[in-house]
Amino acid sequence: MAEKFYVTTPIYYVNDAPHIGHAYTTILADVLSRFHRALGHDTFFLTGLDEHGQKVQQAAEKRGLSPQAHCDDLAPRFTDLWKTLGISNDDFIRTTQDRHKRIVQQILQKVYDKGDIYQKEYEGLYSVAEERFITEKEAESGQFREVRVLKEKNYFFKMGQYQERLVRYIEEHPGFIRPEHRKNEMLGFLRQPLGDLCISRPKSRLSWGIEIPFDRDYVTYVWFDALINYISAIGYLSEEKKFARWWPGVHLIGKDILTTHCIYWTTMLFSLDLPLPDTIFAHGWWLMGESKMSKSLGNVVRPLDLIQKHGVDAVRYYLMSEMVLGADASFTPENFIKRYNSDLANDFGNLLNRVSGLITKNHGGIIPEAGTPTPAEEEIISIGRTLGERVNALVHDFKVDSAINEVLNLVRAVNKYMEVQAPWKLAKTDLAAAGRVLYCASEALRLSAVLLKAVMPEKAGVVLGILGAEGSGLTWGELRSGVALPSFPPLFPRIEAEKPPSPRG
Ligand code: ME8
Ligand code: MG
Repeated sequence: MAEKFYVTTPIYYVNDAPHIGHAYTTILADVLSRFHRALGHDTFFLTGLDEHGQKVQQAAEKRGLSPQAHCDDLAPRFTDLWKTLGISNDDFIRTTQDRHKRIVQQILQKVYDKGDIYQKEYEGLYSVAEERFITEKEAESGQFREVRVLKEKNYFFKMGQYQERLVRYIEEHPGFIRPEHRKNEMLGFLRQPLGDLCISRPKSRLSWGIEIPFDRDYVTYVWFDALINYISAIGYLSEEKKFARWWPGVHLIGKDILTTHCIYWTTMLFSLDLPLPDTIFAHGWWLMGESKMSKSLGNVVRPLDLIQKHGVDAVRYYLMSEMVLGADASFTPENFIKRYNSDLANDFGNLLNRVSGLITKNHGGIIPEAGTPTPAEEEIISIGRTLGERVNALVHDFKVDSAINEVLNLVRAVNKYMEVQAPWKLAKTDLAAAGRVLYCASEALRLSAVLLKAVMPEKAGVVLGILGAEGSGLTWGELRSGVALPSFPPLFPRIEAEKPPSPRG
């Protein structure tokens, strides 16, 4: 059977308007999926929405809508954006769907029957904003809003008993939590005693949730509900064959939700006797200046504004190339324009224009013969021959930004090679030699487009169309001589920086 790749994004809160932080994780999952599909791997890409909890209930009340109507009204903001961004997800799960709620209830019953859930009265500090009990220490940190004392009878999941097992698992599986510094952060967290997890909310306080099957006066805590999406969507307890095919997989998340995934989710899986995910990969934050981009700070960048201005592929390319995976990245419109102009307009777009312009002018618009490579071509060819392998290895290692840079390095090397070879001069004395240079440059463009297709499906597709090379692969020399080039508008027109408004008068 073919290698398989199961990848997920967080399921985003339906209440929030999607911003480039959400778009980033989703595009990343899309790019990885497209790479794996291109390699012939069986791929399943899941994303979706987290729709229960107090904030949704309150927002719905404010609008005078039922919570479900409120969710249904808001969900298209995400689904429409994913469509616009060319996201190729195989499924879209919403936690209010029956297929999900049913499985959450069955899991609760299972964990309860096993003796891993108990009831007790608890008095503690509760953050309404975060929808969970917090420790004294957390309250002191000042990072939690709307904190009050709450005394309540609730159900608890015996998370603490799995502490040692989890520590051992993390230590024995180096690629499990990535990047490395996040793994160390979790091991640090696990040096404190791990408490049990409150997994219920009394209906008197919150009704918008999944009813606890063994006590109808309670609903399920949102995180216990939400994390289960990763297995309910692929058929856990409903389509066992499908589930066995896809589980376990790779969870892509932001570092904000590291603990819920590495501690809550893993111990839930222990209780269910299920294998843990292959990898939990936590990327960094998109910042505006120094602070995290978030709705509560009101500093978000809307993907649609950028798309309208610069196109879908430019946005995808920017997000994927600008963030070093694992580190934070700062968004500014100036950065966006800089990256676009240097990589796409100058390096890639110019090469395409130059090469096709010269082929049209001096070679009748027909891709010339490859000829016999000289040492100058051999240098390019040797980069090109190994490029696919290097890029795929980086992608397997989640280093999408480095993978893109590898491709751009080939493009830059070819630009230099063109400068030195000057096929426009060469054409006057040795037309075949000029043709050889242009074949080599075109072939490098083709190869680059094949590899960039996962990042920029539309534009890379256009390039391959121009070169008559749709469906071609990663072997050097697949470009066919004798293909007539069509004329085409510039692929990546330079963005002129917006001029400051001129003084009036
Ligand atoms: O936490 N930079 O949903 P959420 C980078 N429903 N990524 C960002 C970002 C930023 N500034 N802001 C958001 C939830 N993200 C839960 C998840 S999963 C079972 C439940 C991305 O809407 C990043 O992937 O707050 C982050 O982890 C996620 O959106 C949080 O989305
Ligand atoms: Mg959040």
